[in-house]
Amino acid sequence: MKIIIVGAHGTLGKEVCAALQGPEHTLIKAGRKAGDARVDITNRASIRAMLHDAGRIDAIVNCAGTVAFAPLQEISEEQWQLTLNSKLMGQVQLAQEAIAHLNDGGSITLVSGILAEKPIRAGVAASLANRAIEGFVMAAATELPRGLRINVVSPTIVEESKQAYGHFFPGFIPVPAQKVGQAYKRCVMGVESGQILRVGEF
Ligand SMILES: NC(=O)c1ccc[n+]([C@@H]2O[C@H](COP(=O)([O-])OP(=O)(O)OC[C@H]3O[C@@H](n4cnc5c(N)ncnc54)[C@H](OP(=O)(O)O)[C@@H]3O)[C@@H](O)[C@H]2O)c1
Repeated sequence: MKIIIVGAHGTLGKEVCAALQGPEHTLIKAGRKAGDARVDITNRASIRAMLHDAGRIDAIVNCAGTVAFAPLQEISEEQWQLTLNSKLMGQVQLAQEAIAHLNDGGSITLVSGILAEKPIRAGVAASLANRAIEGFVMAAATELPRGLRINVVSPTIVEESKQAYGHFFPGFIPVPAQKVGQAYKRCVMGVESGQILRVGEF
């Protein structure tokens, strides 16, 4: 399979690459600053250019998407827009643009997170974007042509991110990012569509 991995060099992306690595697959690792391909998911033209250069693909998986953390009464217009443009619409436009480039039976895998279901302090923008992306996946699955599939992986905080923002997640039990990689593998290699694959204790 020829698979594009957006955000391939991030915390989750590295484990997703490890899970999908194999002689039967060609991985195109993409990111804004490094990789086989450069893309900014907040920019539709950049997504189109990456897909054009890649040619026909069998799967596209996304491990990118920024969310702002701030209390409801303090969150700024810029922070809302950052979250909506990146985590939500970045993924929506990536999925939408990918449809025409996917071979029959291909797949799209997006990312949400536990904040879709469990709130934390300063997590209101993340909860909004995560739930919205899950709604998008549920509905988009019903419209995809040619046996294409779409799913979303929803991890809890991973062990590798505990140092950076574990303090936002008191009492949440982190999981190894390797488990998240396996959920992505299930989306790419499996048969499910329109599903939320939760990873960790919810
Ligand atoms: N880590 C966790 O515990 C966890 C848990 C649940 C959900 N999530 C979600 O999973 C996603 C990935 O998290 P992570 O911890 O792996 O993040 P990360 O370590 O910061 O990695 C994100 C990757 O995406 C790329 N990227 C960022 N913005 C991009 C853009 N606009 N266009 C293209 N590539 C972009 C970055 O590379 P460049 O800077 O080079 O572009 C980087 O390689 C996020 O949406 C996050 O909310 C993470």
